[in-house]
Amino acid sequence: MAETMKGLKRTHRCAEISEQNIGETVTLMGWVQKNRNKGGIIFLDLRDRSGIVQIIFETSEENSAGYIDKEGFAKAEKLRSEFVIAVTGTVEKRGGAENAGLKTGTIEVRATSLRILSEAETPPFPIEADSKTKEELRLKYRYLDLRRPDIQHNLMVRSHVVNSIRNFLSEEGFLEIETPILNRSTPEGARDYLVPSRVHPGTFYALPQSPQLFKQLLMCSGYDRYYQIAKCFRDEDLRADRQPEFTQVDMELSFVDVDDVIDVNERLLQKLFQEHLGVEVPLPMQRMTWQEAMDRFGSDKPDIRFGMELVNVSEVVKDVDFIVFKSALENGGTVRGINAKGQGEMPRKKIDALVDFAKDFGAKGLAYLAIQPDGTYKSSFTKFMTEEQTAALVAAMDGEKGDLLLFAADKNKVVWDVLGNLRLEIARNMGILEKEEYRFLWITEFPLLEWDEEENRYVAMHHPFTMPMEEDLALLDTDPGKVRAKAYDCVLNGVELGGGSVRIYQSDVQEKMFEKLGIGTEEAYEKFGFLLNAFKYGVPPHAGLAFGLDRLIMLMVQAENIREVIAFPKVKDASCLMSEAPNVVDPKQLEELEIKLDLKNKDTEV
Ligand code: AMO
Ligand code: AMP
Repeated sequence: MAETMKGLKRTHRCAEISEQNIGETVTLMGWVQKNRNKGGIIFLDLRDRSGIVQIIFETSEENSAGYIDKEGFAKAEKLRSEFVIAVTGTVEKRGGAENAGLKTGTIEVRATSLRILSEAETPPFPIEADSKTKEELRLKYRYLDLRRPDIQHNLMVRSHVVNSIRNFLSEEGFLEIETPILNRSTPEGARDYLVPSRVHPGTFYALPQSPQLFKQLLMCSGYDRYYQIAKCFRDEDLRADRQPEFTQVDMELSFVDVDDVIDVNERLLQKLFQEHLGVEVPLPMQRMTWQEAMDRFGSDKPDIRFGMELVNVSEVVKDVDFIVFKSALENGGTVRGINAKGQGEMPRKKIDALVDFAKDFGAKGLAYLAIQPDGTYKSSFTKFMTEEQTAALVAAMDGEKGDLLLFAADKNKVVWDVLGNLRLEIARNMGILEKEEYRFLWITEFPLLEWDEEENRYVAMHHPFTMPMEEDLALLDTDPGKVRAKAYDCVLNGVELGGGSVRIYQSDVQEKMFEKLGIGTEEAYEKFGFLLNAFKYGVPPHAGLAFGLDRLIMLMVQAENIREVIAFPKVKDASCLMSEAPNVVDPKQLEELEIKLDLKNKDTEV
């Protein structure tokens, strides 16, 4: 029979006591981490979210002070891992060896009474930091996994960071306003999660992909500066830094331009890194246009902790008689390379692995040129070149003895993607990415529109409400693909932390934008009518941004995966291994909704 807490009150968390409490009587409550019975004396590690403290149970014939009675000692002998107990005792300087690895390593608590509040079965894996346990098992028993100190640390940092964000934004004049979760579907962007309506059979709500339209409406309504720690939902393929439901630090500001949004967010990030990591982020942060980022790094979220920049060698190889280069150039593409310094002696097998990696990103192949320590070349394509041409190419790449030069020839988009990812892969393999180094970067002047090959039309690169740059407005009619947007992304160590834009607030510009996106006036009103109508009644110029909170915390605690900073995450197939969501529902529920299933794979039917 479990005992109760009646008459007891916890005085401290386990690791909150220190040498300053020596001599005091304390009452602690928590989980048994470890119990070592040395015959007549028991050493027990007691754990709660603050950490661990050592408890000593010792009994004596005469029941004198500092000893626990026989009954209590017998109870202590029964304690096993993860039992929940309450202990009262006296804080003492540690009698035995001190434990430098423990915050409370110089003290211990000599127990005088013990209650077992709850017993525990043996957990399926040990509750400890740096667990080697398979992630599936951890996620199935997430409630146990969440007891582990490293995850507890991540979630505590997350809570403290959110608190700092609220304080900072509130001091900057932002109002926290909630926006609805049940919305109308506005298919633009990722796939929506839908919720059927019972009251209006056959209709559906969509869960918000972001509070975008509502925050713009709040600006129309005069709230001036809004923010929200907002849950967002997107039915898209999951990756290490993507979840189907995630949290944004979402904000919108009136009467501002690009620099104002960047300024307030830089200061926010600086404060968070200073307060929570003791890291000084120099301001202003580096900025780079989208074009420069693509040309130099092949990515709109470049990791600038290292170089290995892309070099456009199209001019250098334009007369080379190598079909791969030739046909790429003839088809309007480019030839670009990277120089993996000091990797010239990479074994063939590893180079082949890089070629396969490149193919995953759409490359048809990867041409290589390895400069041996003696200055000779090993290459897949120099046989097609004259000595002069090869020398010119090596010079253009700044190639030295011992370097490995890798080239991709294709359409720009493919070349960028291949080499951008390849430089990351090589840096990872070389182990040169310093986790403690935080290199922030703003990417600006994104293209407004992107050509969608599948749909055969332009789509908005950010979203349809993003303002074109004034100097490019005229291009909207003549060369829409060239129009740059007042959009910006905040990138940290190769991860897109956040993004936003200045919004269109003039109906004529908005109409033109819809036209370019192939959305007719009627369709635009059907989808976004409430926003377009709101714009008719006096709308302030406004702009905003949203950070991915999960990604921010992931980088702050140096986690490899976004799941390590989310209490109850989903796995790759968007299911929850613990609760087993999503699940089939009672036929009665479907009946109420007037929904009949017509599953393609009848095996899944119930
Ligand atoms: P965007 O779509 O760029 O912009 O999203 C903003 C930030 O949210 C994070 N994020 C995600 N994090 C985890 N899992 C996901 N599936 C996921 N998708 C996005 C990223 C991203 O930078 N309404 C606009 C913002 C604006 O214009 O103000 C928006 O949602 O860190
Ligand atoms: P091949 O003559 O087809 O064997 O190709 C010679 C080299 O060019 C091989 O190393 C291929 O991997 C490489 N290659 C093929 N296509 C491309 C491409 N699009 N860009 C760069 N290298 C390529």
